[in-house]
Amino acid sequence: MPTALITGITGQDGSYLADFLLGKGYNVVGMVRRTSTVNFHRVQHIQDKITLVPGDLGDQISLIHILEEYKPDEVYNLAAQSFVQTSWNQPVFTGDVTGLGVTRVLDAIRIVDPKIRFYQASSSEMFGKVVEVPQRETTPFYPRSPYGVAKVYGHWITINYRESYDLHATSGILFNHESPRRGLEFVTRKITYHVAQIKLGLINELSLGNLDARRDWGFAGDYVQAMWLMLQQEKPDDYVVATGETHSVEEFLTEAFGYVNLDWRDYVKQDPRFMRPAEVDLLVGDPSKAGRKLGWEPSVTFSELVKMMVKADLDMLRNGQVAM
Ligand code: NAP
Ligand code: GDD
Repeated sequence: MPTALITGITGQDGSYLADFLLGKGYNVVGMVRRTSTVNFHRVQHIQDKITLVPGDLGDQISLIHILEEYKPDEVYNLAAQSFVQTSWNQPVFTGDVTGLGVTRVLDAIRIVDPKIRFYQASSSEMFGKVVEVPQRETTPFYPRSPYGVAKVYGHWITINYRESYDLHATSGILFNHESPRRGLEFVTRKITYHVAQIKLGLINELSLGNLDARRDWGFAGDYVQAMWLMLQQEKPDDYVVATGETHSVEEFLTEAFGYVNLDWRDYVKQDPRFMRPAEVDLLVGDPSKAGRKLGWEPSVTFSELVKMMVKADLDMLRNGQVAM
């Protein structure tokens, strides 16, 4: 039975990847950082099937010890300070965890067992102020936030360790992917959660920032499959994972409010607090390499994704559950 280590297992992608790898018969080990309140809600349903071990991307020793003790065949580095807006408030922390943290994992692999296969969670945020449409593996980067800059570092150090030490180190350049497990601060889940609350008469307003931004939004459950496929290839490489479609925040609003027969214009207010110092206006990926080499393609459309998320939030609130 192969063993996989997932950093960031308590996050959206980590939880979907853990589900996926358990289904493939893996022994799943998840690294969790110490928090004052337990935040295992996304992996609660599989907690008796996985092993959670303490560690932190800021702490090299913990990474080395985990690799020595659990001897993973594959390491998926999904941990990061992943919220773009926060990266302006905490640029140094973001650089340390999201950027340098990648080097700490790679160097732990180099020291403990260079045969371990490594996946780095790179991001379409690296394209930022895009110089080409659609964006592909060869598109130059122009990051627009401390988060994007940190991800560019993580991407290149992955390639550097591949070339310097012959590690099976792969970088997945994933475009935005969402789900009912998405954090509440990201725009999609913020919208669907507020739509559900508005529909149930609990609130009557939603404050947002830039409604014109366009993203290539897919379903997280599809995207973790691409991560696994990348590590099953004989040679490490870089892959764009995207739907190839782009939609604005306004289109997301129309779809989400439309699902519950409401008009978003009656509820949405624009609030400068949610505007960014530098914006990424347009992202749309070209996933043809992933299709050709991995046989990967998305299975959930934009409209299905929005409905899935609104429905999940409505069900959650109707069942009296607390949003997390
Ligand atoms: P997420 O829900 O924010 O999860 C981030 C995870 O990282 C959480 O488990 C978090 O732990 C953990 N973490 C944060 N700082 C850490 C540290 N210092 N040490 C150890 N763990 C730490 O993010 P996601 O949406 O699942 O994304 C997964 C990865 O893919 C991230 O690297 C993200 O930047 C990247 N990415 C995401 C997307 C997307 O659209 N979702 C697209 C491209 C790339 P806590 O639960 O304790 O906070
Ligand atoms: N979060 C948020 N909140 N975003 C808003 C809001 C709001 O109230 N109003 C408008 N937006 C706009 C943002 O300005 C941005 O252009 C867009 O909605 C998407 O914002 P987020 O959902 O926060 O995601 P992101 O695109 O910045 O970053 C996500 O995707 C990246 C991949 O491109 C994160 O998951 C990153 O970790 C990931 O790398």
